[in-house]
Amino acid sequence: MKISPKMKKALNDQVTLEASASSSYLAMASWCEVTGYQGSANYFYMQSDEERTHMLKIVHYLNDMGAVASISAIKAPVSSYKSLEGLIKTALKNEQTVTKAIHTMVDIAQKEKDHSTYAFLEWFVNEQVQEETKFETVLQKFDLIGRDKLAINEIDKILAMDAAAPADTVA
Ligand code: FEO
Repeated sequence: MKISPKMKKALNDQVTLEASASSSYLAMASWCEVTGYQGSANYFYMQSDEERTHMLKIVHYLNDMGAVASISAIKAPVSSYKSLEGLIKTALKNEQTVTKAIHTMVDIAQKEKDHSTYAFLEWFVNEQVQEETKFETVLQKFDLIGRDKLAINEIDKILAMDAAAPADTVA
């Protein structure tokens, strides 16, 4: 094994966290779909897929390093929301939790002089900046456009456009 037991545990915990994020976004997408926010539903279905790719990156990295990934059970996600704004606030909070966990792993890699994992985590550090910014920007729209039905419909359209954008322009 080319990484420490402590790093192995942190990376395996991150596999669980990314799986939870994927499941949480899937539940958000489904709620949006049945609530009539089709643009937001498309956006969160896509976001759920993205989180799964993050999880897979870590699974492959662990296995490549001879550490063997372990796949754990995850808790059922929240499946009902009071509003689209509340849902996006929860999404931002999720991302902030993920960012904290990534930064903790970077600290471990630095302390252990684990250059491979440090380099591997760089992509995640940048990804988290984009993901937090993305949700902060959507939340700003509620202040800018409003919270009435027409405003929420506009915000749903914005999320639809994001979901339809080519993958490399979507963070
Ligand atoms: Fe993979 Fe959005 O954290």
